Amino acid sequence: AAGYVLHRTVVLVGMMGSGKTAIGRCLAQRLGVAYIDSDAEIEAAANATIGEIFARDGEPFFRDREAEVIARLLKSEPCVLSTGGGAYLAERNRAVISARGVAVLLDADLDLLWERVRHKDTRPLLRTANPRATLAEIFTARAPIYAKAELRVLADPAYSIDEMTDAVLEVL
Ligand code: S3P
Repeated sequence: AAGYVLHRTVVLVGMMGSGKTAIGRCLAQRLGVAYIDSDAEIEAAANATIGEIFARDGEPFFRDREAEVIARLLKSEPCVLSTGGGAYLAERNRAVISARGVAVLLDADLDLLWERVRHKDTRPLLRTANPRATLAEIFTARAPIYAKAELRVLADPAYSIDEMTDAVLEVL
């Protein structure tokens, strides 16, 4: 992406496991801009993991911190911002993102998402008796909201992170 001048912050949105963090990091490097992950910002400020914050302070507290981080970052210089999977659901977040940035949906199918999240225990929303079914429910409920993203890139399971990053650069 040599010569590409970023005018708006690129906000990666999509389900847990869609690749927001890995692709965001790679994209920022290719664009020569800062990379920020809203979950990591929240964890650093709270000095606790997302799981601990959910358990200790509750999800509404987490969502408020998330909205603060997103609003703050979109006021600063254009960068690449990866959000947590729930961030784009809140109207307040979509409003700031569309006013000052561009939302790129990483659109992966349920099987790929499950394959990526099943081995990890970092997602409090999936700490249920049947996490596979929970992921499916979340996927279905969120699909119409994710569809509001300005840009969309299909997550091909055969693509590497670099190839997915190329796909994002193509739609930007
Ligand atoms: C969430 C996704 C997580 C994290 C939190 C809630 C969600 O981020 O913000 O566990 O509501 O989908 P990732 O999408 O990076 O897993």
